[in-house]
Amino acid sequence: MTSLLTALDLPIVGAPMAGGISTPLLAAAVSDAGGLGMLAAGYRTPEQLAADLVHTRDLTQRPFGVNLFIPRPPARARHEAAVSDFRDRLIPEAQALGVAPGHPSWGDTDHWADKVLLVETLRPAVVSCTFGVPPAHVVGRWRAAGIEVHVTVTSLAEARDALAVQPDVLVLQGHEAGAHRATHDPEAEPEVIDHLGLLEVVAPEVDVPLVAAGGITTAGDVRRALDAGAAAVQVGTALLLATEAGTSQTHRAALRDPSLTERVTTRAFTGRTAGAVRNAFVDRHEGHVPPAFPVVDQLTKPLRRAAADAGDVHGIHIWAGSGWRAAQERPAGEIVRELAG
Ligand SMILES: Cc1cc2nc3c(=O)[nH]c(=O)nc-3n(C[C@H](O)[C@H](O)[C@H](O)COP(=O)(O)O)c2cc1C
Repeated sequence: MTSLLTALDLPIVGAPMAGGISTPLLAAAVSDAGGLGMLAAGYRTPEQLAADLVHTRDLTQRPFGVNLFIPRPPARARHEAAVSDFRDRLIPEAQALGVAPGHPSWGDTDHWADKVLLVETLRPAVVSCTFGVPPAHVVGRWRAAGIEVHVTVTSLAEARDALAVQPDVLVLQGHEAGAHRATHDPEAEPEVIDHLGLLEVVAPEVDVPLVAAGGITTAGDVRRALDAGAAAVQVGTALLLATEAGTSQTHRAALRDPSLTERVTTRAFTGRTAGAVRNAFVDRHEGHVPPAFPVVDQLTKPLRRAAADAGDVHGIHIWAGSGWRAAQERPAGEIVRELAG
């Protein structure tokens, strides 16, 4: 099968990074450099997402994509008591920051149906999905609109499930990845397999192009992934310090902080397993957090925002992949060109 990935000047996808990091400026810069820029729809309202898509189209003539979270609301009956306990646990530190923990909102809070329609209408070149497999009828609608569909997987079993909807591309996310693991079952412990390991087990089973993601921050990493059969790589952490990225000043400072030396995978911030640099928030809360995404995200968000505003690197999620020390503060186009070698 072919994909627009094969027509790119550079085999680099700029990872969608939710939470304000993947700005239209960043996506356009990656696309203009010859890679594929991506917007992140997660947490955005439909109005914000529409504005992002229109803005990016104004900034670049090149193809770009958008990434959607597959909704999988946690079972309220099973998690409500633990969520309430965790909220209580957050109250003292929230008070110290002058805020209150957020309130849980059960159900689909990410406007899935509106976003499906928005993508179909505004027709970016690519839509990618994380946290699950989009339903076949949705894939059919996007395809009919001329949009290429990418699905992220973290294991061979998830790759097999995704093939049922005939995606154009599979994105293989290894455990070295920054921020949330794309694991389809949010309560399962993600497999500890890197992107090269995933390429090795998935490639023999599929005939769709594969994108490798997780820990890719140097030209050598890119070359090894392409040599192992990837059609392209997807890089997030390598772009966290890019000039055009919306990464907060506190997050930027934390990535450069020599006293923060360890990376962990943790549910502490959102209830979903994610790759982050270890800080005091992780140490305080790891092991006390129910696997209830995005409800836990809603509880902790006011605290993380206040900590970011205060410049407190120990109160924010320092999302980072394993190669975070190699991230560079430069224009995204330069980063992408250097990665491509
Ligand atoms: C800050 C941040 C936010 C991310 N947000 C998303 C997202 O919204 N959707 C998604 O599919 N992947 C997201 N990812 C994961 C990337 O798509 C990709 O798998 C990951 O960045 C690859 O590992 P690396 O960070 O080591 O390059 C995010 C990654 C980071 C670092």
